[in-house]
Amino acid sequence: MADLQSFIEELRTKVSIVDVVGAKVNLVRKGREYQACCPFHNEKTPSFTVNEAKGFYHCFGCGAHGDIVKFEMEANGLPFLDALRKLADKAGLEMPKLSHEDHAHSEERKTQYEIMEMAVSYFERCLRLPEGRHGLEYFYARGFGDEIISKFRLGYAPANNGLKSWLASKGVSEHDMIELGLAAMSSREGTSRVFDFFRDRVIIPIFDKSNRPIAFGGRVMNDGQPKYLNSPETPIFNKRHTLYNLNNAREKGYEAKNIIVCEGYMDVIALSKFGFEYAVAPLGTALTEEQITEAWKVCEEPTLCFDGDGAGIKAAIRSVDRALPILKPGYSLKYIFLPDKQDPDEFLKAKGHDAFAEYLTKTTPLVDLLWKKNFDNAPVATPEQKALVEKNIMDEVAKITHEQVRSYYQQTMKQRIYYELGKGAWLASISQGNKWNGQGGQKTGRQMPVKVQVTRPKTTLDELVLKFVFSALIFYPELILQFEEKMSLFSFPNAELQKLFDAMLEIVNAHDGDEAFNSNVLCAELEEKGLKKLLNSLWELKMFRLQKPFESNLRRDIETKLAEVQIRQLEKEIKDILNKMENSSSFSEEDYSLYQSLKNERQALIDSNSSLD
Ligand code: UTP
Ligand code: MN
Repeated sequence: MADLQSFIEELRTKVSIVDVVGAKVNLVRKGREYQACCPFHNEKTPSFTVNEAKGFYHCFGCGAHGDIVKFEMEANGLPFLDALRKLADKAGLEMPKLSHEDHAHSEERKTQYEIMEMAVSYFERCLRLPEGRHGLEYFYARGFGDEIISKFRLGYAPANNGLKSWLASKGVSEHDMIELGLAAMSSREGTSRVFDFFRDRVIIPIFDKSNRPIAFGGRVMNDGQPKYLNSPETPIFNKRHTLYNLNNAREKGYEAKNIIVCEGYMDVIALSKFGFEYAVAPLGTALTEEQITEAWKVCEEPTLCFDGDGAGIKAAIRSVDRALPILKPGYSLKYIFLPDKQDPDEFLKAKGHDAFAEYLTKTTPLVDLLWKKNFDNAPVATPEQKALVEKNIMDEVAKITHEQVRSYYQQTMKQRIYYELGKGAWLASISQGNKWNGQGGQKTGRQMPVKVQVTRPKTTLDELVLKFVFSALIFYPELILQFEEKMSLFSFPNAELQKLFDAMLEIVNAHDGDEAFNSNVLCAELEEKGLKKLLNSLWELKMFRLQKPFESNLRRDIETKLAEVQIRQLEKEIKDILNKMENSSSFSEEDYSLYQSLKNERQALIDSNSSLD
């Protein structure tokens, strides 16, 4: 066996892999490597590469990988020994005499994926041995139970070079172990020694999307350094292309029409534990174009999840820079920023599934992040400063290579610039009336008392709010006339409730100046008008009778509740009109002044409402 192994090594040094592969496929030189369309799968653009210095071929499309021997076997269909013979001829070498054992071993030459699989199951076994006990306890302490451990095939790497011995006993060469990043060579004082790459770490295996093991992450269990050690780049592991957990997340992501990209292994595992099984992570580096492209194969708008601190926002912005050049119609990114510097793992532990699901619905689109990046902290007091902001934004937009996408970005950004910096901002300042709050886009502060009048449909009050308000009005009938005008701004969800309100007004007006008029009289007359059932359904009224709240408190509660409904409605309308403006190709001043007046109305409501407290 040892002889056969060294014979193969000799063949590798004597026979050029470019010759061997070049005899079968048309290789084109690209820098240090050669490229071709892959002979192992159907493709139109080349993803098959041959590296002479390293002596292997690799296909980034289908994962085909090997040396000269494997190429002869797989591309030319030769059995192992025939492949060796052919290569020996080529090198002018004589075939060695083979023992029985050699013949047997030659049958079971392992592929690199098989060797990696042996390592995965070795680490899994070690986690259950006494020496791996503290690894198992580490996972338990992080809240990962047996189910998660077996789903993600988590393991433990002992400190005693156990993997190397185990693989050697199965006939794996040290050459292969080193090439796969499972072992490393140290050379000290002229002597070299091979040892396990991962020692005394818990192990997280990394699979490619076809579920083949390609690398490992190993975490220390104390605060040693580095916290995570990752496999080096190997013939089967390319960090730039790999997303951790894509093997599982792919299917789940198609179903959920979403994929969450977070920062770390543990975040992915925690998300899965809490039911979000469509999460992936890059491997300790910023997200690459290749990884974004992979995520786009799952869904059109992957959700990138960052913690809300400075580092998280920086990372998000870096991903915007990566994505701009490769944006294409329909495909983008959206963002979540978690509070309190928490990563998803910590957030889920603290707040649980529902809170995260809520965040998933509150994403920021890429276009907003690009805007914020250039606008939020930029001074815009002078024309020169405004011009700089515009230039910076437009320079970035110019990085979008796709023509249509770029043109819509230009349009959107021009409109925003118009609203926030240009003529629109001036209009905003005048339609703002005598109130300038200095918030949001209103960076320019012209003050002129011009009011833009816009008529809009009435806001419908929902039944729960209305029942509360009516109960309060019935409990303190003197409030009815005070709120009459305000209530006329709303429409009611059904005719019954409208009837009740009309009846209340009628009765109150009929008792104008009547000292004896009170809540009991009002109720009795409402019952006479056939409204008893409706009255009985007002449970708040019963509560008020028990609790006897102060009139001033109830008045304030009514104000607050009505304002809340109005603000919610205004926000919806603001969003709609913004959408409309961003999606229409021509600018309409009418839409714009509607937008401004909605915003002003909203702000006024918020201000007057907070002054109530
Ligand atoms: P973090 O430092 O945010 O760790 O690294 P984490 O994911 O919160 O991990 P725990 O919760 O402390 O265990 C995020 C990712 O960066 C890479 C890893 O891929 C990690 O998942 N990383 C981090 C490294 O590759 N090496 C390191 O030393 C640290
Ligand atoms: Mn963490």
